[in-house]
Amino acid sequence: MNLADSEIILGLLDKKGYDLTDDMSTADVILVNTCSVREHAEQRVYSRLGEFKSVKRKKPEIIVGVLGCMAERLRSNLTDKKAQGVGQIVDVIVGPDEYRKLPTLLSQSWHGEKGIAVQLSRVETYDDVAPLRTNGISAWISVMRGCDKFCSFCVVPLTRGRERNRSFTTIIHEVETLSERGFKEVTLLGQNVNSYQNGNHDFADLMKAVSKVDSSMRIRFTTSHPQDMSDKLIQTIAERENICKYVHLPVQSGADRILQLMDRNYNRAHYLNLIQKLRSAMPTVTLSTDIITGFPSETKEEHQQTLDLMEQVRFDGAFTFKYSPRENTPSFRMKDDVPEDIKTKRINEIIELQNVIASEKNAQHVGQTFTILIEGESKKSSDEMHGRTDGNKMVIVPCGSYNVGDFIDVTITRTNSATLFGTVQQHLTAEVA
Ligand code: 5AD
Ligand code: SF4
Repeated sequence: MNLADSEIILGLLDKKGYDLTDDMSTADVILVNTCSVREHAEQRVYSRLGEFKSVKRKKPEIIVGVLGCMAERLRSNLTDKKAQGVGQIVDVIVGPDEYRKLPTLLSQSWHGEKGIAVQLSRVETYDDVAPLRTNGISAWISVMRGCDKFCSFCVVPLTRGRERNRSFTTIIHEVETLSERGFKEVTLLGQNVNSYQNGNHDFADLMKAVSKVDSSMRIRFTTSHPQDMSDKLIQTIAERENICKYVHLPVQSGADRILQLMDRNYNRAHYLNLIQKLRSAMPTVTLSTDIITGFPSETKEEHQQTLDLMEQVRFDGAFTFKYSPRENTPSFRMKDDVPEDIKTKRINEIIELQNVIASEKNAQHVGQTFTILIEGESKKSSDEMHGRTDGNKMVIVPCGSYNVGDFIDVTITRTNSATLFGTVQQHLTAEVA
């Protein structure tokens, strides 16, 4: 979502004549788009800003801006020691609903004025802003902003504000333009896309309409809340061939008492029922999840219930996090009483189990053929390329007579817990699996 926001910011700056550079030594402006969701993300921003100190020492006229979710917090921290002296190097602070002000604030900061804009909005969706996309194959489209769910651990409703939806027609128009420009994949984005509503159109209607724009384009979406995963949406994903059969459905915990303390508004039985519905509608669907370990008062038995749920569902992937208390969230008032060493032990058990499950699931793909969309050169070897299956699994293939953006048929020869390796069967031009 931050990458999508960065493209909106670039779109706004591009219109004012700013150019993007990869080379920091030539930059006149450095902007850091930040995330507040966990303490770790914030720490990374502080250390990144620390790196800019020497850049600013060498080139004092350079402007440093901090954008996104940390903006509001940073503003109050500017004089605080915790902010590690960032006040001296930060010139501009802009929150997620104020990006339109960035060009003006940058102009003012050329004249030595510090600029701050951190108001949240109930209406801003940047519906009319054309994002500047730096990847010509896959595009993210933010369809809604903010979140009204208020999970007790989560800072998002506070940093990104209340839920707002973009217009159905402009989203469809954006997809049409992307199709004309040769994009091969779009991902509809939001903190909780399932609660999308615009006029009479819900998220299932939006997915259906988007998938009809260009049947050769892959359509993905993220993220979903289990409370809002409707039967209609499941049917739509199942029926539309070019909607990828991959669902990211954060469960957070396998224990009902913890889910209740998290204010997640569903229980384990509801979640398992959803998984069963998804699998009976789409037997090959791949599933991933988010899990938080060490939520306040989580017992050993409740941790075991999360492991049991993982064994029951057998996710293809899981993003796992140690609970980190976020200021002003409801759970911040609860005692963060699971000691760090226990959190580490629990997260390691979760990761180990997930690795075993993912390895076993991936091994079953050996001998099967998938259509993959080639995304780029492999990080490990220039003789190899990487792409993704419809189910979002990463596949490595030897280089051949195909390019980034091509769909190719690949037979899987070996696997590990994170990646599939294959040989190329057929080079397709514009077809989708
Ligand atoms: N501590 C740990 N993990 C968190 N997440 C959100 N807030 C916190 C927190 N305070 C995780 C959730 C969410 C993902 C994006 O980040 O699992 O789904
Ligand atoms: Fe945060 Fe919950 Fe909203 Fe996700 S659904 S962004 S976890 S409040």
